[in-house]
Amino acid sequence: MPGPDPDLSRRAFVRSAVAVGGAGALAACTSREEGADVPQADLDPGELPDRQHAWNEFLDRDDHGNVRPPEHHLLLGLEYVGDGPDDAEREQLEDAFTTLERAYGRGNDGLAFTVGYGPAYFDRFDDDLPGDLELPEPEPLVPIEDPDLDAHDALLHLASDHGRVVLSAEEALAGELEEINDVSVEGTFEKVLEVTDRRTGFVGEGLPAENQAGIRGIPDTEPVPDDAPFFMGFKSGFERNQASEDRVTISAGPFEGGTTTHLSKIDLSLHQWYEQDSRDQRVAKLFCPAHADENRVEDAGHNLGDSSGVEDCIEDVEADARNGLVGHAQKAGRAREDGDPIILRRDVNSTDGDRAGVHFLSHQRSIADFVATREAMTGSDLTDGAIDSRFNNGILQYLRVRRRANYLVPPRRHRALPLPVPE
Ligand code: HEM
Repeated sequence: MPGPDPDLSRRAFVRSAVAVGGAGALAACTSREEGADVPQADLDPGELPDRQHAWNEFLDRDDHGNVRPPEHHLLLGLEYVGDGPDDAEREQLEDAFTTLERAYGRGNDGLAFTVGYGPAYFDRFDDDLPGDLELPEPEPLVPIEDPDLDAHDALLHLASDHGRVVLSAEEALAGELEEINDVSVEGTFEKVLEVTDRRTGFVGEGLPAENQAGIRGIPDTEPVPDDAPFFMGFKSGFERNQASEDRVTISAGPFEGGTTTHLSKIDLSLHQWYEQDSRDQRVAKLFCPAHADENRVEDAGHNLGDSSGVEDCIEDVEADARNGLVGHAQKAGRAREDGDPIILRRDVNSTDGDRAGVHFLSHQRSIADFVATREAMTGSDLTDGAIDSRFNNGILQYLRVRRRANYLVPPRRHRALPLPVPE
C-alpha cells in the first residue's frame, strides 16, 4: 500500500497515515508529529473507572464546557479465531488492554478506547444474555435504506489526539511491537482476535476542511468552512444535547456499568447542500427553521455555547412540517426523556474509500433507545403534510446509511471475551 504523501500539511499527513495504517505509517507519523512525547499513564489501570465508556471526565473541554473529542479514531471490526473462549485467552486479552492503559493515560493526550461484542459473538454460547438485556441483530431502520449488516464478533474503538498513539496501539495488539511508549507489551490479540474490518475517522475544528480535497460527495470548490469540526459545516455534540454517561449506562445485572454501541457508516452527498442550499436553509435543515429566521447560528455555531437551543423548537415540529421544512436536531430532540437526550453521540468524519461520510457511533443504555431516537430523526409521522419523506425533512436527503452494527460494551471487569452471564 502506498504511504502518505509527504507534501500534505502536518495534520492532514497524520490523518492519512492513520488511514493507511501499518508499521510504515506509524514510523512516518512518529517522525512528522511534533511536540513533546506523549506521557505514560499516571493512573494504575486498577484505578480506572469500571465503565469503559467513562471518557468525559478525562477529555478536554472547550471554553463553553463542551467535551472536545479526540481527533483521530480507529474502528477495528474483529473476528474471534481462538479455541475457547477460555480463561487463558481472557487473560491474554486483559494483558493486552492493560498494556495500553499503562502506556497511555485515558484522554485526548493519551488514548481512549472501548471494546464491545456483537450478537455474532454471543451466538456461540448455549446461554443467552440475561433476560432484560437485549442485543438485537442490526437491521434496516428507515424505509429508504438498505444497509449491509455487520456481523463482527467485536469492535475496538481507539481514539487519541495523536495519530501515532492509535497506530502504535493497533501495532502492539497485532504483536508487532515489543514496547509501546516504553512499556513492555504483555499481551496481544494474536490467535484470539483478528482484524477483519478497519475504518478510520477524525473530528475537530479545521480537520474536515483540510481533508476535503478530492473526496467524493464534496464539491470540487472545497466549500467546508475552516472552523467546522464536521463535514456538514457545523458544530455538534453540545454538552446539553448529549445524554450523560450515567443515562447510557446499564444500571443492573452482571453487565452493570456497561453500555451499548450502535455503529453505522453513512455516506454524505453534499453537492446540493453547499451549491444550491443557502446558509439559512442549511441552518434550518440541521437545527430548526426558527434558528435560521432568528439568525441564531454564527459561523459553525461556536456562539451557541453549551446548547444547540433546539429545546425551544422541538414542540413546533408539526407546525414547521406543515410549513414545509423541519430541522434534524429539532426532530431528533423529540426522543428526549425528562428533557434530556437518551443517546451519547461519539460520531466522527470519514474519508474511507475517498468518500465523504460519517462513522455514526453512539452509546445508549439499550439499542432500543437508539432505535427510538432514529425513528424520531426519520420523522415518518411528519411526512403526510407538506414535507416529503426525504426532502426538507432535516438532513435525510444528504445521508445514505451503508452499514449498521450493534454491540454490547461490557464494564471493564468483563471486557475480555465475556460469557453471556459472567460470574
Ligand atoms: C450523519 C450526519 C449527522 C450530522 C451531520 C448530524 C449533526 C447534528 C447537529 C449539528 C446537531 C445539533 C447540535 C447538537 O445537538 O449537538 C445534531 C443533533 C442531534 N442529532 Fe445528529 N447528525 C447526524 C446524524 C444523526 C443520527 C444518525 C442520529 C441518530 C438518531 C442523530 C441524533 C441526534 C440527536 C439525538 C441530536 C440532539 C437532539 C437534542 O438536542 O435532543 N444525528 N446532529
